[in-house]
Amino acid sequence: MSAPTEDDATYEARSPKGTHDVLPPESSRWESLVGGFAQLAERHGFGMVHTPIFEDARVFRRGIGEASEVVGKEMYEFDDRSGRRLALRPEGTASIVRAFVQHRPVTPWRVWYVTPAFRYEQAQAGRYRQHHQVGVEVLGTEDPDLDVEVIVLAHDFYRHLGLRGARLRLNSLGDAVCRPAYLEALRAHLAPREASLCEEHAEVWARNPLRVLDCKRPACVAATADAPRLAEHLCEPCREHLARVREGLEAAGVGFEIDERLVRGLDYYTRTTFEFNAPALAGASDAIGGGGRYDGLTEALGGPPTAGIGFGSGIERLLLACDAEGTFALEVPAADVFVVDVTGGRVARDLVVRLRRAGLRAERAYDGRSMKSQLKAADRSGAPTAIIVGHSELAEGTAVVRDLAAGTQATRPLAEVLAHLAGTTTKGAP
Ligand code: HAM
Repeated sequence: MSAPTEDDATYEARSPKGTHDVLPPESSRWESLVGGFAQLAERHGFGMVHTPIFEDARVFRRGIGEASEVVGKEMYEFDDRSGRRLALRPEGTASIVRAFVQHRPVTPWRVWYVTPAFRYEQAQAGRYRQHHQVGVEVLGTEDPDLDVEVIVLAHDFYRHLGLRGARLRLNSLGDAVCRPAYLEALRAHLAPREASLCEEHAEVWARNPLRVLDCKRPACVAATADAPRLAEHLCEPCREHLARVREGLEAAGVGFEIDERLVRGLDYYTRTTFEFNAPALAGASDAIGGGGRYDGLTEALGGPPTAGIGFGSGIERLLLACDAEGTFALEVPAADVFVVDVTGGRVARDLVVRLRRAGLRAERAYDGRSMKSQLKAADRSGAPTAIIVGHSELAEGTAVVRDLAAGTQATRPLAEVLAHLAGTTTKGAP
């Protein structure tokens, strides 16, 4: 099918490939997922941060790395009308580090976020061109106890959602002291095997040899089977850091396995890297969250040397994992009260205003529907009570109060009904 043109008369608007709409009632699951994350993050001392959805493309090129797939192949980059090279954010971390470099807040700076992220990926189940993440970042401390705090937060969040199957893999990618020598050893191992690498990595191995370790294709797995191990090249401070992280996770009762091949797709990582996978999502898109340290990222963006660590988690993937595990079910919020008005709608119009101001979730029907049709809508609303006003009630200043579950009803003065309903709400008006 050819792409629609602007003057195509038959064009019916559709969302772009790889994107999706989140509609009610599913959107209330999103709200409650984000609300749960916000609460947990605030309890851990994180404040919310918002940064622009687009940045100078260099933020991501320098931050995430030119050789990464995310930047090289997937980024949405464009020139604005003044010729500035901009990019839609493919992830949250680089933008937040840019904000840190710009504003120099007091450290340790602990922030959380919820954001869309854009990557031109092959669209498939759990893989979108616009996905959404919740995440945290901490800047300004090298303390491995923060690595533990961040990983425990992710773990506890997944438990809060009811996910029991999430598997945590952990690795250390070394630092500026020990990694260069390791990369040389790895390059020396790969050079004579170049011809046997998969097509993608035969091209990039010299620039980014770590990526070959992460490749699941049999050719690369075979070529790296007896490759030098990063764990054996870690310097003493990196070893101690990893040991302290392991100790903290064990003390917090967070199960993990060490995966020396866990490299991750963004080039800023140093030392601790981790990923949570949901086996229930079986397949390539089973990562529900990941993160790690990025101790050189502020410098890459022109700031002072500052250590950092964080993680991000895909909302769509989390909800898919919850569905697969049969947890975090959708709870459709019910109305508190439904107003049925067969006198023309003015009573309903004025009552819902009063009821909502009193803190109640009040609903009504529109367009002068029949009593039968309004009562059907009242049932669908989930409200336990309907207030019914007909011509005689209107004349007498009364209303019929109907218990929708029991089917019983009684006529009362309207003022009394309103006072009673206002007294039943615990929500309070804002
Ligand atoms: P990431 O692993 O690229 O890391 O993405 C984090 C999570 O976002 C993934 O685990 C996955 O759940 C979700 N995700 C990524 N791409 C897609 C996609 N195309 N469709 C659906 N979900 C997706 C980061 O983005 C880092 N910023 C995480 C981090 C924070 N590291 C340190 N701090």
